[in-house]
Amino acid sequence: MSKPKVFVTRLILDSGLRLVQDFCDVDLWADELPPPREALLKRVRGVDGLLCLLTDQIDAEVMDAAGPQLKVISNHAVGYDNINVAEATARCIPVGNTPGILTDATADLTFALLLAAARRVVEAERFVRQGKWKTWGPALLLGMDVSGATLGIVGYGRIGQAVARRAVGFGMRILYYDPAAVPPASLPAQPVDFETLLRESDFVSLHTPLTSQTYHLINADSLALMKPTAVLINTARGPVVDPQALYMALKTRRIFAAALDVTDPEPLPMDSPLLELDNLIILPHIASASRSSREQMSRMAAENLLAGLRGERLPNCVNPEVYEKLKVTRASNA
Ligand code: DGY
Repeated sequence: MSKPKVFVTRLILDSGLRLVQDFCDVDLWADELPPPREALLKRVRGVDGLLCLLTDQIDAEVMDAAGPQLKVISNHAVGYDNINVAEATARCIPVGNTPGILTDATADLTFALLLAAARRVVEAERFVRQGKWKTWGPALLLGMDVSGATLGIVGYGRIGQAVARRAVGFGMRILYYDPAAVPPASLPAQPVDFETLLRESDFVSLHTPLTSQTYHLINADSLALMKPTAVLINTARGPVVDPQALYMALKTRRIFAAALDVTDPEPLPMDSPLLELDNLIILPHIASASRSSREQMSRMAAENLLAGLRGERLPNCVNPEVYEKLKVTRASNA
């Protein structure tokens, strides 16, 4: 029997890639950079399954180029703003993602950024390497206290709550804003409205998906509400923050500092004014980049892909309503 045809848009870790190679006829894009649009449109032609990354825009054009036999789209990420899910649902194509396994890695990196921005760790390290360290000084590189400070978490899902658990250890007061949250009773976190969170927090940490409601949620108006001593951390998606507004807020010391694992665009061009700022830390979207998280992401993305190809329910499906639609379609065809 012939194997299903799949396109894998980048070299993923072995744990998942081997699984896919065992069961499928794999076309693998092995370059370091993502497939350019033209190549993506060409390589998806006739595939039964697509395993893609957050760097691939999967929209109606890609689904059309693939053809009506496309059975599953599996995203190697928990976030899926790169996929037009409504379009996939309309075509009864289940879309998979990789939730849960990168929660701790992302929360750990959020805290690494929070501590680094508060205590100017990156700036201080640069200071040493640049030969500026002459002596111990009472006012040298003063930062902000983390212990006992107020942390405002925007988006209180799995990752937001994992950040809150870490904050408990630092004796922080925890606020969160998330109208849709189902918070665990075990965490001492207080729900507040967005304005209260911005006004009262010493640290504002973003953990919301990118949607039309969260695009530029942090803009000039929201930054104006924050304390001048506040630190902003973004490990969610770049476009949740308006980069021009952030630049002005940091440049004019409207807020103390920021730390971004995600930017808009990615990668940030080398002539971006953000790169001139001393009070900003920027990382290249590595929050989930621990070996074990990336191995598990690879495996979970492969398992979603294989389940979809077999016509089984995806272990992690972002549009489970497709199964209702498929039932109705099958019943009316019977
Ligand atoms: C995700 O999974 O959405 C992260 O941004 C990358 O791991």
